[in-house]
Amino acid sequence: MIVCVCNNISEGKIHRAVDAGMTTMTELRKELGIGTSCGKCHTCAKHVLRECLHNNTTRNAAQPMVFHAMVA
Ligand code: FES
Repeated sequence: MIVCVCNNISEGKIHRAVDAGMTTMTELRKELGIGTSCGKCHTCAKHVLRECLHNNTTRNAAQPMVFHAMVA
């Protein structure tokens, strides 16, 4: 789904940006140009950003713990 029509920014592109470490609208605006033209996408982009951050947190929390045997 295209989130920012003016700059042709898709939801997937936001997902990839979050996976690359972006966590704020300021960063998305600066790096992707999202919301820098008409600004109508701001609310939707913020929603997608929050969803990505939540999913990443949940995914990271769900990773199994790995224990290594200690050799004395
Ligand atoms: S739709 Fe994003 S700046 Fe216009």
